[in-house]
Amino acid sequence: MDYRFVGGTGLKVSQLCMGTQTFGWGADEATSHTMADQFLEGGGNFFDTANSYNQGLSETILGGWLKRTGNRSKVVIATKVFFPVGDGPNETGLSRRHIFEQIDASLRRLNTDYVDIYQTHCWDASTPIEETFQAMNDLVRAGKVRYVGASNFTPGQMVRVNMLCKQNGWARVQCLQPEYSLLIRSPEWELLPVCREDGVGVIAWSPLAGGWLTGKYHRDQPPPSDSRVGRGDRWDDLPDQRVAESTWQVIDVLRAIAQERGKTPAQIALNWVLQKSDVTAPIFGARTSSQLADNLGAVGWSLSADEMEQLDQVSRIPLPSPYNFVERYTRRR
Ligand SMILES: NC(=O)c1ccc[n+]([C@@H]2O[C@H](COP(=O)([O-])OP(=O)(O)OC[C@H]3O[C@@H](n4cnc5c(N)ncnc54)[C@H](OP(=O)(O)O)[C@@H]3O)[C@@H](O)[C@H]2O)c1
Repeated sequence: MDYRFVGGTGLKVSQLCMGTQTFGWGADEATSHTMADQFLEGGGNFFDTANSYNQGLSETILGGWLKRTGNRSKVVIATKVFFPVGDGPNETGLSRRHIFEQIDASLRRLNTDYVDIYQTHCWDASTPIEETFQAMNDLVRAGKVRYVGASNFTPGQMVRVNMLCKQNGWARVQCLQPEYSLLIRSPEWELLPVCREDGVGVIAWSPLAGGWLTGKYHRDQPPPSDSRVGRGDRWDDLPDQRVAESTWQVIDVLRAIAQERGKTPAQIALNWVLQKSDVTAPIFGARTSSQLADNLGAVGWSLSADEMEQLDQVSRIPLPSPYNFVERYTRRR
């Protein structure tokens, strides 16, 4: 396992981040704790969670593991705020009030007195960004949060927020969490270049596209019953796009490269993200110990340039306007 600095900070994280949304959703407490041990033994030190995951259960299970093992000082914990935690008018969003309430709730569940990276889970169009990021800055000053992060921003939102933080001398966003995988490559158009230019770390969520890139789904067969698609989980919310022929073509190439290299499709899909230099760490999920073992096998080796090119080609999506226009004329200069 290698370790990488998060953006322009001095914080070092493992090149794989373990997403803990499955803690309390598919993985019970005992399995979750076994997986956390296993990840640490494999060299991982970086966990991602959120206040809203499984009504707080993801944080509670992770916090139980931290307390039982005494591993807090060995790991980096990222959590988030934004999505509803109740039906009340102030139980959602990125207001100062909700952020202040939710950091305390997260710290309680996690059994810690600080979070390493506190992330806005999504853009909140209803709250002034000044209110949100001044509140985030105040949490850094109060010692409850070490670094500010964000998730699900557009490139324009990313630039606006960090210019605002710079103008005001506030702690800026050091780490962005977008969805990015062989099936979701739109961050390459602008988001990843913006993060590169501004020295913002990138941690990519759903690098296995929720399991689609593990090779377990087949064109003409029903999904395995113990899979997200087979269970009809709320999370498989993009079936139309995922069952497109273009998706199966990506999966075909993944399988072929996996067979040639003696790796699994999941390892190939994760290694593809790992080799994208703009990415600090993919945030993978695992529901079982054997899935985790499989995913840990994505590090310690590299896809060849030719294999990367095959994967890049088959997963390429046509550039929309104005990116296609800009690219055409930039290349001519
Ligand atoms: N910021 C955001 O808005 C956002 C959104 C989503 C996720 N996230 C973060 O990203 C993390 C990962 O998301 P994700 O769980 O969607 O990631 P993922 O790695 O794309 O998918 C993980 C799922 O794929 C299946 N799987 C994983 N490894 C496998 C293997 N080796 N073989 C077969 N199946 C395998 C499992 O589902 P089944 O076995 O049940 O099919 C597992 O739960 C989350 O925990 C969370 O921390 C953030």
